[in-house]
Amino acid sequence: MIAKQTIQDVQDRVDIEDIVSDYVTLKRKGSGKYLWACCPFHDEKTPSFSITPDRGIYKCFGCGRSGDSINFVMEHDGLNYVETIRHLAKKYGIEIIEDEQTDEQLAEQNEKDSLYIILNYANEFFKKQLKESEEGKSIGLSYFKERGFDTQIIEKFELGYSLDTWDGLLQEALKNAYNEDLLEKAGLIVKKEDKKYDRFRGRVIFPIHNVTGKVVAFGARTLKKDDKPKYLNSPESEVYHKSKVLYGLFQAKNSIRQQDNCYLVEGYTDVISLHQSDIENVVSSSGTSLTDEQIKLISRFSQNITVLFDGDAAGIKASLRGIDMILEAGMNVRVVVFPEGEDPDSYSKQLGTSAFKSYLEENIIDFISFKASLYAEESAKDPLKKAQSIKEIISSIAKIPDGIKRAVYVKESSKMLDIDEGVLVAELNKNLIKERRKDDKKRIEESTGDRLLEELIVETEIQTIDQAAQIRVQERESIRLLINYGLNDIEDEYKLYNYLLTELEDVEFVTPVYKEIFDLFKAKLAEGEIIDGNYLVANGSEKIKHEAINLLTERREISPNWQDKYQIFIPSEKDLLDTVVYTNVARLKFRVIQKLISENLAKMREEKDTEEQDKLFIIHDRLKKSEVELAKVLGIVVSK
Ligand code: UTP
Ligand code: MN
Repeated sequence: MIAKQTIQDVQDRVDIEDIVSDYVTLKRKGSGKYLWACCPFHDEKTPSFSITPDRGIYKCFGCGRSGDSINFVMEHDGLNYVETIRHLAKKYGIEIIEDEQTDEQLAEQNEKDSLYIILNYANEFFKKQLKESEEGKSIGLSYFKERGFDTQIIEKFELGYSLDTWDGLLQEALKNAYNEDLLEKAGLIVKKEDKKYDRFRGRVIFPIHNVTGKVVAFGARTLKKDDKPKYLNSPESEVYHKSKVLYGLFQAKNSIRQQDNCYLVEGYTDVISLHQSDIENVVSSSGTSLTDEQIKLISRFSQNITVLFDGDAAGIKASLRGIDMILEAGMNVRVVVFPEGEDPDSYSKQLGTSAFKSYLEENIIDFISFKASLYAEESAKDPLKKAQSIKEIISSIAKIPDGIKRAVYVKESSKMLDIDEGVLVAELNKNLIKERRKDDKKRIEESTGDRLLEELIVETEIQTIDQAAQIRVQERESIRLLINYGLNDIEDEYKLYNYLLTELEDVEFVTPVYKEIFDLFKAKLAEGEIIDGNYLVANGSEKIKHEAINLLTERREISPNWQDKYQIFIPSEKDLLDTVVYTNVARLKFRVIQKLISENLAKMREEKDTEEQDKLFIIHDRLKKSEVELAKVLGIVVSK
């Protein structure tokens, strides 16, 4: 969209020293060619962040971040490339030339610019009313003071006031040559039949900023007791899409990055009160339910979200979807719950800054404990409820895209809920396959051949790192089953070791220690001896011995407590051996196939010769088919 020339102009014009100085104070040490500052990207007391003006680059020796001017602004302000170029062009007064813009697009851009201008005008107007008009001071300002907001905070959030008249803003804007249509498009005035009047009247004003700090909308709170709605918000416009804006993000973004955590609260006043309590890494979705776009916005600054829940159960259960969405986005979510009837605003005031901070630190829990606690009361009386709560927790874990993280959470849940890990894994697999099927269906519906391949390449690239770990996990599981239960029957007269050896005949183990054990097992079998874990402990090398001990002692038994207490029969791993081993074999093969697919795709990308490419494509096709087959098998196995 932006012309190459404009990008070039920006690149030629930017000056790292000038840019970085907008954010931190640079100092020269001695006569060196570096300038130093405390890093704006992480928390530190002594400067390890440097810039080299000659070369136009920055580097932090503390956190390792580095790049040029454009990277700096992208990273610091959480902007994408195009947004950054626009931002810098404005800063340096460079004309932005748009490539191939249709008249429509041009008009749209102009309209957006005009909207920003009028919204900014209105914002200044409201601020002035708060500070200078008698009504603003006596009603608006005293209300804010009563709520404990000091002058600094009022400035920081640019709070304002709208007079209790019909058309104060409208008249003033018209006098200043702003046009009526624009005021309406910005949601500032309402036209009804032949009447037109200000949307916000006799309310305190909370401007809503986008991530770059431009005002895009307003929330306005009534001060009258029975006035509805309590908060009146701007309607959507060209520059305001509710689902893509988070209240407070502009004021919070630096702190979110530095604390590497973002608190999520419900309302405007929660955000402001937390700032007043010295906590700046906080945003609000302003009363609506959290959206994927909002989560993505946060993820530009941190991967960690802490949801602060008001202490009422109805609200909590309604917000559970938000937690799953955060997990789905691959981010980490934790929770703090407040006492009944308290919200972050009221409670921070009640406790005061330092006690409130400690409350947050002491009461932060992960989402598993949180979900478990929600059902704790009910499940204590009713075992079925407990089963339900386990299902709820596992269904959340299934949303997490990263396999290793899932494994960690399953382990955690197993400990916390006192339930065998194997049972949880089986439940998780069921969920995963369901999710996978949904995804596949969606992908196939949405994609045509070429795009599918492209996506596949990108996707498999991302997965490659995971794959090695996932294969290792499944190899470990195979060996664990083999040396614990090798001689158990999985069907009549059919031993587990037999099944494993046959099925894994053409699978090459990649983890050295498991390969060694597997090979040793086969070698001994050829001599007529069937070895088990105890043999390995007694005769293996140090490494094998160590591994065998771990595999033998892993706690997989059902807690007797669970059965006694609730009199529910939960089969032990031994009873489920057939299912467990089928799943394991299918999963291992599945992972191996996925690895082969990515290796093959890597080759395809490198290959220049079209004939060779075709061959690789055929291989890809075959691998893909096996992958699908295995997914199906996995479905059958786990849902058995
Ligand atoms: P609350 O009713 O909890 O408001 O709604 P609050 O933030 O605690 O406000 P105070 O303390 O009474 O002043 C939470 C959020 O829901 C949105 C607002 O964003 C509010 O901050 N909301 C609420 C609306 O948009 N409209 C409403 O009528 C009510
Ligand atoms: Mn409140």
